[in-house]
Amino acid sequence: MAIGILAASDLIKSEKVSNYIMMGELSLDGNLQPIKGALSIAIKARQEGIEGFILPLENAREAAVVDTLKVYGVETLSEVIDFFNGKTELKQVIVNTREEFFTKVNECDEDFSDVKGQENVKRALEIAAAGGHNVIMIGPPGAGKTMLAKRIPTILPPFTLREALETTKIHSVVGKIDRNTSLMTQRPFRSPHHTISDVALVGGGAFPQPGEISLAHNGVLFLDELPEFKRQVLEVMRQPLEDRTITISRAKFSVEFPASFMLVTSMNPCPCGYYNHPTKECVCGPGIVAKYLNKISGPLLDRIDIHLEVVPVPFKKLSEHSATEPSLDIRLRVIKAREIQSHRFSGNDGVFCNAQMSSKMIRQYVDLDETSSNLLKNAMERLGLSARAYDRILKVSRTIADLEQCKNVESHHLSEAIQYRSLDRESWGG
Ligand SMILES: Nc1ncnc2c1ncn2[C@@H]1O[C@H](COP(=O)(O)OP(=O)(O)OP(=O)(O)O)[C@@H](O)[C@H]1O
Ligand SMILES: [Mg+2]
Ligand SMILES: [Zn+2]
Repeated sequence: MAIGILAASDLIKSEKVSNYIMMGELSLDGNLQPIKGALSIAIKARQEGIEGFILPLENAREAAVVDTLKVYGVETLSEVIDFFNGKTELKQVIVNTREEFFTKVNECDEDFSDVKGQENVKRALEIAAAGGHNVIMIGPPGAGKTMLAKRIPTILPPFTLREALETTKIHSVVGKIDRNTSLMTQRPFRSPHHTISDVALVGGGAFPQPGEISLAHNGVLFLDELPEFKRQVLEVMRQPLEDRTITISRAKFSVEFPASFMLVTSMNPCPCGYYNHPTKECVCGPGIVAKYLNKISGPLLDRIDIHLEVVPVPFKKLSEHSATEPSLDIRLRVIKAREIQSHRFSGNDGVFCNAQMSSKMIRQYVDLDETSSNLLKNAMERLGLSARAYDRILKVSRTIADLEQCKNVESHHLSEAIQYRSLDRESWGG
């Protein structure tokens, strides 16, 4: 606006102005403050055939991801005026997106090898990552649930450039890209506190903004202490979990934000935290454990394929210096299993991994022989598993078979998958 006024009043004498798009929050002293959504604006500018984009220095690298658009970062309004009046040149900000992306995409501060023991939990998280399955971890305080969850992005397949752009765009809209970053190179791990509002979680507001589920797009959304979240907040997540996108409607328009994420949740098994604990005694009265679980809505639980009990590692094991497998090795197996899945689902629009299979697809791709069918039937009866467990077990067993590169789901795949339904057992909390 400022440049427009200056040009109209002949203080800027240049035809060039109309070839540029200029954004920035102008302070009273002429300094420019950062803006939100620089990346999206840059993409649009390129589509419109605009020659250059002048914006606050803080946002310049973010916008410079869009090649073929000339991006200039400035700190004050007077730099812009001098530029248009031919007194100075502006220095173009150039980011070699591909090079920067591919050197950083495998860097990670955290690693699965930081976690001692917990072999069975890591195995289950590998399955979850391989099939895109949502997970709930149940365990006492200090068992390492948060630590494990944080490391899940390190075993997911690395970002593709397209995914990185999609996710960066969303973070850019809410102004969450710092000045040294051009493109996000790690899958997001979002961990909102349980006091979060439904608007902050799924997005909204008078001028709709993306929420946590969209910031977690192509990454992990971690809801720690699930029963502490307000029930109504969890309810609003059901539709986007299904559709992998969220539509926010207003009277005159509606916006759609992508929201395809892996949901990872954790909870203590009971209010005191020590139900089923190997050494400590649970002090919760009868019925309390089941009631605690009931705080999580059934329909949400329905969308979680893997239930995992996390038992703390004994102190002796924690202090051992034994070698543990690095994330990179696990990730390689996950990538292989994902390749099998993308091949399998190549004809199915919008389905990329086993977790996304419809009931019909489950029948099509999980073909049990008679022994396996009987095994599953018996297990369901013996463990008192509910009907909703059935499809979940089949999906997870498909992923276990894929990790082993087996064409058919066999009984040992099924028996492992059956273990991951703790919360469906009649005996739970009883
Ligand atoms: N298997 C492990 N290997 C290494 N360190 C561990 C392990 N388990 C727990 N720790 C240590 O214990 C700390 C607490 O773990 P964490 O916060 O992940 O537990 P939690 O299960 O999330 O507990 P809470 O229910 O209290 O949130 C970790 O930061 C880590 O330092
Ligand atoms: Mg925790
Ligand atoms: Zn208890």
